[in-house]
Amino acid sequence: PAALRELLLSRITDVPDHPQPGVVFKDITPLLADPVAFGALTDAFVDLCARHRVDKVVGLEARGFILAAPVAVRAAVGFVPVRKAGKLPGETLGQTYELEYGSAEIELHVDALAPGDRVLVIDDVLATGGTAEASLQLIRRAGAEVAGVAVLLELGFLAGRQRLEPGLKGAPLEALITL
Ligand code: PRP
Ligand code: MG
Repeated sequence: PAALRELLLSRITDVPDHPQPGVVFKDITPLLADPVAFGALTDAFVDLCARHRVDKVVGLEARGFILAAPVAVRAAVGFVPVRKAGKLPGETLGQTYELEYGSAEIELHVDALAPGDRVLVIDDVLATGGTAEASLQLIRRAGAEVAGVAVLLELGFLAGRQRLEPGLKGAPLEALITL
């Protein structure tokens, strides 16, 4: 609700011209440093796990790891990492996706999800939607079901929701704050 949104928003700071001129970086480190705000954020994601009957949460490296791990513990579900290519030690599935300039690749352990697992993807920010979209492809290729995508912050002007829409196949995209 509005009070949660205001609390979270008050702990996210704007850093102009980072990582490059003209970009305003949304810094969540003040939120992470405030146990009341971080706890409220975690509880909001835990509620989504219950509402969407989630079996596992997938965190997207790196900032998604920080948000998803306490959710997994409090919701009593497994945590599964989606990592940048080359970091996971076991057999992996890989997915490349387009960035504004060039491309990137993320990976998932091939046996990290069981067939039929209902999976919630958690990340800090939905920008263009490329990272989240690639993670949904990995989850489906692993034989699991997408229960939804949950982000702290959706940057509406970058139209990530539109890019993600086909890949969601009806699953919800839950953003606690949309700018
Ligand atoms: C950032 C952010 C999201 C992603 C959103 O991660 O944390 O994961 O970009 O962008 P998109 O919607 O356009 O894909 P980034 O890879 O920059 O760095 P991180 O390792 O700090 O999370
Ligand atoms: Mg990230």
